Amino acid sequence: MDARNADSIGGRAPASPLLAVDGVTLQYKTREHLVTATWRVGFEVLKGDRFVLLGPSGCGKSTLLKGVGGFLQPVEGSIVLAGRKVDRPGPDRMMVFQEFDQLLPWKTVRQNVLFPMLASGRCGRAEAEERARSYIEKVNLAKFAHVYPHMLSGGMKQRVAIARAMAMEPDILLMDEPFAALDALTRRKMQDELLRLWDDVRFTMLFVTHSIEEALIVGSRILVLTPHPGQVRAEIDTTHLGFGSREGEAFQALHRRIHDMLFSQRVEEEERLVQHG
Ligand SMILES: Nc1ncnc2c1ncn2[C@@H]1O[C@H](COP(=O)(O)OP(=O)(O)O)[C@@H](O)[C@H]1O
Ligand SMILES: [Mg+2]
Repeated sequence: MDARNADSIGGRAPASPLLAVDGVTLQYKTREHLVTATWRVGFEVLKGDRFVLLGPSGCGKSTLLKGVGGFLQPVEGSIVLAGRKVDRPGPDRMMVFQEFDQLLPWKTVRQNVLFPMLASGRCGRAEAEERARSYIEKVNLAKFAHVYPHMLSGGMKQRVAIARAMAMEPDILLMDEPFAALDALTRRKMQDELLRLWDDVRFTMLFVTHSIEEALIVGSRILVLTPHPGQVRAEIDTTHLGFGSREGEAFQALHRRIHDMLFSQRVEEEERLVQHG
């Protein structure tokens, strides 16, 4: 067995990364333009990490997730998951998006959660049924298993999307601003629920947000990206803040530090645009 995939004993992360992103440049080629979305970005995610990509809108966070998802190939650098080069999408990486319409409207909650497990052949019927029951319960939707998505609130839909992705038991859960479209109170609740779920299941997640506060709450490590094209500005360990903490002196100090980092970048970027534009 590959030591990288072995369960860590005593809660300690193994030394070799689950996900290694190394010098990754990602581009979009349209008919008129070549857009460089990220520039030589590197980071490593260990098993059990709550790894956050934080940066301003347009800095390439979603593009990086697409790269890890295998939807977009780097023009430079490499993305390796559990020792295998990522070159296509796969059931070992599941994505949760911001949009509430990611569920199939003609399927119930239970059928939505079952669908990828059955379609991918990742597990048999009985196993899929058991996982669906278990993960729907974990996101507190047992009472709504037979309800259609249009009956659910935005927060509940996001919980279904999370249960559906987690039921696949992927190596890594990719989350692209999953709570950004929720009202402030629901968003807070979802952050707490995600942490509770993580504490229960100890999955690995790569979570994208442009909110400093959210990054500090949900993350164990934060990669701060520069504005477009995204480059690594800093990597910050937040474990000293305490699990799930939303306040306190250390929290505020780190919030200020990251804010200054992002704000000074924005000023530099604006100055650059004024000079060249
Ligand atoms: N399909 C696309 N075609 C061309 N350019 C794109 C496409 N998607 C994103 N971009 C550009 O790539 C850059 C990064 O976008 P994105 O990854 O969506 O940023 P973020 O998620 O951080 O807001 C932006 O400049 C954006 O305009
Ligand atoms: Mg985005």
